[in-house]
Amino acid sequence: MSAVGHGAAVRIKACGKTFADGTRALDPATLDIARGETLVLLGPSGCGKTTMLRIIAGLELPDAGGKVLFDGKDMTSVPIERRNVGMVFQSYALFPNMTVADNIGYGLKIRGVPKAERAACVAELVALTNITGLENRRIEQLSGGQRQRVALARAVAIRPGILLLDEPLTALDAALRDRLRGELNRLLRALGITTIYVTHDQAEAMELGDRIVVMRKGAIAQIGTPREVYFTPQNRFVAEFIGAANIIEAPLQNGSLVMPGGQLRIGDDVTMPATIAMIRPETIQVVDAGQGSLSGLVDSVSFTGDRQRLVVSGASSRPLNVDASNAIRVKAGDRVGLSIAPEAVRLLPLES
Ligand SMILES: Nc1ncnc2c1ncn2[C@@H]1O[C@H](COP(=O)(O)OP(=O)(O)O)[C@@H](O)[C@H]1O
Ligand SMILES: [Mg+2]
Repeated sequence: MSAVGHGAAVRIKACGKTFADGTRALDPATLDIARGETLVLLGPSGCGKTTMLRIIAGLELPDAGGKVLFDGKDMTSVPIERRNVGMVFQSYALFPNMTVADNIGYGLKIRGVPKAERAACVAELVALTNITGLENRRIEQLSGGQRQRVALARAVAIRPGILLLDEPLTALDAALRDRLRGELNRLLRALGITTIYVTHDQAEAMELGDRIVVMRKGAIAQIGTPREVYFTPQNRFVAEFIGAANIIEAPLQNGSLVMPGGQLRIGDDVTMPATIAMIRPETIQVVDAGQGSLSGLVDSVSFTGDRQRLVVSGASSRPLNVDASNAIRVKAGDRVGLSIAPEAVRLLPLES
């Protein structure tokens, strides 16, 4: 994790948004973002991520009662050009007829930064974003990945207090997206700028976020570090949106979940009456038939390269996804035992 400074760089207080046509895009949300932190807003399309980002940027006013503070200062009605934010969007929004260097230096030029100083800053950012040699090309001569590097360099050239990114990698193909994600991660750590990053891609959120805000239908479903939202989701939505999850409905008796394939011990002190349980596929161990707490039948085995994914029926009310090592020899039709540690079972509230 990066060094995160003290105090909230950005504070969002009770910011909700209802658009003029009556669409409720955001329930009143309260959130602190620490100096130097990368906070990711993660959720499916339409859940209010962009609306939240636009409120922080000053492109949208929150509903009455909502406040946006930067370093404790009320910015709610300060326009975007006086908020010192850098922005990068899914569409590059670059000036197509200008060169790469002129695009990157544009914000500095309109701020009256002298030419020599501007050139030095552009050179530094060109190197940092891996586009050396492209300085004099025009934007229309660049690939998507190169354009997004330019957009990023341009956004950070003005040394913004806050960097706002809205799905910057979404328009790129999968291989390039993976590579740029890694580069972006190193860049954000190197710059140490307070960053708010919007994505619907959980892999991006996990890699880039110091913390992740999981959003659903205009509301915050959970806020936590990548590990917290993965290992201790607070509800079914978060459990299923991040990573793979087996959701199990089974009665709890004397500290065990009573399931078709056996009794799964989860601990004596567990007394939640009506719950569902979540088990990650990689926490289930495949053992010999007759061993382990559950018994099931292998429905299918799919080889995924680094591991194999089994679907096992009969153990739970619904087939279980199990991620097993390649070293285990199993085939469809085999009876297997399943061993699951009590701490791998996460009890979740029933849906309201
Ligand atoms: N200007 C607008 N007027 C009316 N509805 C809007 C407007 N902008 C966004 N919305 C609606 O608000 C909801 C949240 O949108 P948005 O914040 O763009 O979601 P996300 O970025 O998570 O995909 C959606 O239902 C969207 O259709
Ligand atoms: Mg959006």
